[in-house]
Amino acid sequence: FAEKKLKGVKVVVTAGGTKEVIDPVRFIGNRSSGKMGFAMAKIARDLGAEVTLITTVAAPFGGMNIIQIQTADEMMKQLKDIFPTTDVLIMAAAVADFKPVHVADQKIKKNDDEDIFTIKLTKNPDILQAIAATKTKHQFVVGFAAETQNLLENAEKKLSKKNADVILANNVAQVGAGFNVDTNKVTLLQKGQKPLVWPLMSKEDVARKFWKFYLDK
Ligand code: PMT
Repeated sequence: FAEKKLKGVKVVVTAGGTKEVIDPVRFIGNRSSGKMGFAMAKIARDLGAEVTLITTVAAPFGGMNIIQIQTADEMMKQLKDIFPTTDVLIMAAAVADFKPVHVADQKIKKNDDEDIFTIKLTKNPDILQAIAATKTKHQFVVGFAAETQNLLENAEKKLSKKNADVILANNVAQVGAGFNVDTNKVTLLQKGQKPLVWPLMSKEDVARKFWKFYLDK
């Protein structure tokens, strides 16, 4: 496995939760630490791939092209530029489905007369769906599915709707899996094939197993 089996392969990985800006000091975020995407990127790098990591979380390692972004719109812009020359895209980022309609220029002040403050949200683009729609047969696109119930059923829907080659489904309600832990429990889904149910293991081992799957397929 130490051989550079991904030499010459251009891999793009997204990691972390998007931060949807409310005002200069606040954002809407989620619990993604970036660890799952980091593991995918690092193992690809170790296998010799040319890796670009598009991340909302500062990456404590190198050996790849790292692009730091905050919002889903920024992630989309980067991916639109880079995807045409990408061989494998892995969408491990937790992209917010909604963003504030208005971004305030100044810090929003608390109004002493109002106990309830409402932020109007609008849908973010579905990045995976939009990018995978432009995929050629030489490109391979991997999405994740973060579910808290009906894991396989919901992940199957994402596989077909988002035009991904593979969906890695994780039950983020399960202890030791999903957000902000070093381990994960993943089921790999592909069109017309039986799901591959992988046991609980470190995120780096999930990444090793995924890249082995990719190289063996
Ligand atoms: O970062 P960690 O703390 O290590 O946690 C890892 C993780 C739980 C974030 C990761 O394993 C994971 O599941 N990532 C996907 C999270 C997510 O947004 O899942 P989803 O089921 O909502 O989205 C499905 C797929 O569509 C994902 O590949 C996502 O990147 C993509 N998506 C979602 C919404 C959107 N507007 N655009 C997208 O591209």
